[in-house]
Amino acid sequence: MAEKKKMTVAEILAAARAEKGGAAPAAPAESAASAPAPGASATPESDAADAPLPAERPSAPKPAAKPAASGGRPSVAEIMALARAKKADGASSVAEEQAAAKPAPKAPAAKPAAAKPAAATKPAASGGPAKASAPRDTASILAAARAGAKPGPVSKADAPAAVKTLLAESTRPSGKPDAPKGASAGQDAAAKPVATKTAALKTAPPMPTRPAKAAAKAADDEADRRGFLSMALGSFMALGFTSLSVTGGLFSLGLARFMFPNVLAEPPSRFKVGFKDGFPVGKVETKYVAQFGVWVVNSDIGGQQQIYALKTVCTHLGCTPNWLEAEQKFKCPCHGSGFYKDGVNFEGPAPRPLERYAIKIADDGQLEVDKSRAFQEELGQWNDPSSFVPV
Ligand code: FES
Repeated sequence: MAEKKKMTVAEILAAARAEKGGAAPAAPAESAASAPAPGASATPESDAADAPLPAERPSAPKPAAKPAASGGRPSVAEIMALARAKKADGASSVAEEQAAAKPAPKAPAAKPAAAKPAAATKPAASGGPAKASAPRDTASILAAARAGAKPGPVSKADAPAAVKTLLAESTRPSGKPDAPKGASAGQDAAAKPVATKTAALKTAPPMPTRPAKAAAKAADDEADRRGFLSMALGSFMALGFTSLSVTGGLFSLGLARFMFPNVLAEPPSRFKVGFKDGFPVGKVETKYVAQFGVWVVNSDIGGQQQIYALKTVCTHLGCTPNWLEAEQKFKCPCHGSGFYKDGVNFEGPAPRPLERYAIKIADDGQLEVDKSRAFQEELGQWNDPSSFVPV
């Protein structure tokens, strides 16, 4: 059992060295039994059986075993070389076997192969170069990309040129860019964005232009607005100046009124009442009451016939008494004071007699009353010759 022990690598190497040196190695019984006898020719079958590689590859070509120079067992190096060679051949043979063993591709698998050539022949039919035969260098790829790419944003400097180009494209009668005969499909594809842009320009609404009428209307509106503003400002200023002028005028009038006081339209203090003959004895003339506030009386005073002018103001509170011809007295309507014909109070609250104005015969012989002078009986002024005219 111990002899059937598997040989280690060291033992194998030692055995190989011993074989090389001519000495028979002390191989284990199993190895010795399997090893051919010296001098016997080693068959390939036996080599293959002895090889560590799997022997279940019947289809693999059996390499011819190199017979040992001495006609003995092959060395380990030879075994390993043989195994490597077998391995390489086996890989190729396995691939071949697998390829051979693989079933034939079914009909669907053949379809793409059939469609592919058809697709490849399409560009060729349209006049363009076939994909397979087209040069695929970097310059051609970039050119094709630029031609097929959509036009991107352009700079301001390039914008007019781009617009010109687009306009030129749009003004072409055919609506298609001129292409040389036999132009490729790639160039047609490159012209597509331009044609699209041209169509967009054609369909875009035109820029509105301001008509002359609209411009004139705008100018008129502007003029009207300015006119309105100037008129409004002018009217405001005119209103202000007018108000200022009116105020100044009124102030001037008030100042003049203050400087020149009212002049009452009163009758003059001196006035003529007629001749003596117009005043009979015992007569009280009332026609000057309303205008001059005076009674002209021809009466007997203390045995002397006199014409005098009585003031028509009640000595109580200033009311105007009435002459009562029937009662031969002056009666105050306010509080009932009564005065005789000569003006002496005799009833009511009046505290004193009526007053007299100065009277005289004017140069023309008429009686002239002077209201600027008054005479009071209680003061003894009625005795003044200016207070009466003797008849
Ligand atoms: Fe004439 Fe009073 S005012 S009585």
